[in-house]
Amino acid sequence: MKLLVLYDNRAVSEEWVKGWGFSVLIENQDGESLLFDTGEKWSSLLKNMTAAKIDPMTIENLTFSHADWDHKGGAEGFLKVNREVNVFLPEFFPSDFKEILKNLGHAWEEVGTRPTELIKGVYATTSFYTEGKPAELGLVLKGSSGLSLVTGCAHPGIVRMVVESNKVFGEKIKTVVGGFHLKDFSLDKIGEIIEDLKKEGVEKFAPAHCTGGEQIDEFERICGGKFIKMASGEKLRI
Ligand SMILES: [Fe+2]
Ligand SMILES: [Fe+2]
Repeated sequence: MKLLVLYDNRAVSEEWVKGWGFSVLIENQDGESLLFDTGEKWSSLLKNMTAAKIDPMTIENLTFSHADWDHKGGAEGFLKVNREVNVFLPEFFPSDFKEILKNLGHAWEEVGTRPTELIKGVYATTSFYTEGKPAELGLVLKGSSGLSLVTGCAHPGIVRMVVESNKVFGEKIKTVVGGFHLKDFSLDKIGEIIEDLKKEGVEKFAPAHCTGGEQIDEFERICGGKFIKMASGEKLRI
């Protein structure tokens, strides 16, 4: 399973655009592609696709973690260019976004009511609802090195999402990837969260986006060789 970070608050080099938001392109063993989130701006997402030599027309599937602007902002531009992409829309997406899809002639399939395999080996989790926070779902990837959980912002809580996924998928999540929304947490609290994740069986940590700059550095300090660097242009194999 290959992952390419196409949108993040950090970038690997000046050739890549960084910006507030998240997007990752997933390719499974059969070469099927799934774009998870689209960052804030289509212009930035397109620049990074160009840097990666990816033609947006060749992306076969699209889905989202949640409906925040920094995860769906780039979608309209992408959907105008790629009229063929299969859209898996979280059940909690707002009606104004469905109007955009209709106006562009896109059909969609709703996800989030139950774990759903989107492409071979890549599953959308059920929706997580939390009072006062955006509804969100994650992706569980069955790769050669076990299960990984990919999150957009992890507003429901990264530990909660891992605990639930471990139960539902009957196997431990070994790698967590994405935004963990810890930017307002103290560094002491980051240490506690890492401990909680390890107790649940997590072995590798790839924090990005709204995990927060200092907090990501703390992950790197604590996790050492188990830390995976994330940034626009970064490639992962899991
Ligand atoms: Fe976010
Ligand atoms: Fe968010």
